[in-house]
Amino acid sequence: MKVAILGNGWIGNRLKDHLGGEMIPGKALTISGLDRIVSEMRPDVLINAVTHNEGSNVDACEINPSAVLFANSYVPLLAAEVALRNKIKLVHVSSGCIYGGGSVPLGEDDPPNFFDLYYSRTKVYAESALVPLAEKFGFLVVRLRIPLDNRKHPRNLLTKLISYRKVIDEPNSITYLPDFLCAVEALLREDAWGLFNVVNDGTLRYPDLMEVYKKYCPEFEYEVTTLEDLGLTRTNIVLDSSKVSKYWTARNINWVLDDCVREYLERRRSDVFEAKERTSVA
Ligand SMILES: NC(=O)c1ccc[n+]([C@@H]2O[C@H](COP(=O)([O-])OP(=O)(O)OC[C@H]3O[C@@H](n4cnc5c(N)ncnc54)[C@H](OP(=O)(O)O)[C@@H]3O)[C@@H](O)[C@H]2O)c1
Repeated sequence: MKVAILGNGWIGNRLKDHLGGEMIPGKALTISGLDRIVSEMRPDVLINAVTHNEGSNVDACEINPSAVLFANSYVPLLAAEVALRNKIKLVHVSSGCIYGGGSVPLGEDDPPNFFDLYYSRTKVYAESALVPLAEKFGFLVVRLRIPLDNRKHPRNLLTKLISYRKVIDEPNSITYLPDFLCAVEALLREDAWGLFNVVNDGTLRYPDLMEVYKKYCPEFEYEVTTLEDLGLTRTNIVLDSSKVSKYWTARNINWVLDDCVREYLERRRSDVFEAKERTSVA
């Protein structure tokens, strides 16, 4: 299966490395421009992992709202139209941050209800256009929720929490990225279509992740705080992963924490070692 990926960022590159795909060069700006590249590449699957966040987080989306709307809402439609014209499968990477409130697990059929962040609204606009097409044209929409990874990245939950040193204590659904990659692979293998919450089973309370980190780095200190004290607009939710579980066994998020932290620290040590080696050679 030949995979082309739009969105040369964090998630796009993790998908590319895992699925052995090829990155679409440049920016998708017009149907004709993207169509020309896709028809030359001739992929079986087009994955849209585009977003615009001013290189930061969801709050930064307010800085340049037009660019965010273009990347999060218009580019998915562009990609869908190009997938239709080339008769190929579209995979759109969406987000669980379109729901707010409560500990009742939310399924794919629950309508979005969190509109307090502009980023969330732009993700809702894209989903509302793509989900109706999914059934007829076999498109796949996969929702990530607070990605946790075993390698350093500014948007990896672990990297963020160890730099903030202040964490909230609310249960949340989490997507462990190494598991997400396997889930997307399984969904593609089975030619699954429609909307999927791709989250791990169970919920994570951030102090539990911090305690695992402390086990390996005993000098690390953190404190528990509240969203009110942080003054942030955020959503804490539980997503139901039973639909995706028919294709991929979702591990409980609490079972992956030890592996995640250990591998994260091993990679960080080898990155530091390589950087020192490079400096001494230079
Ligand atoms: N990271 C998270 O916490 C998270 C959580 C849930 C869902 N998601 C979803 O996961 C997807 C990927 O996010 P990410 O974290 O990988 O973001 P990212 O690292 O910022 O990557 C997004 C990439 O899209 C590129 N891009 C922007 N406009 C484009 C266009 N018109 N054509 C082609 N490429 C364009 C960006 O390029 P420039 O940087 O040059 O603009 C960037 O390389 C998004 O759909 C996002 O909503 C992410």
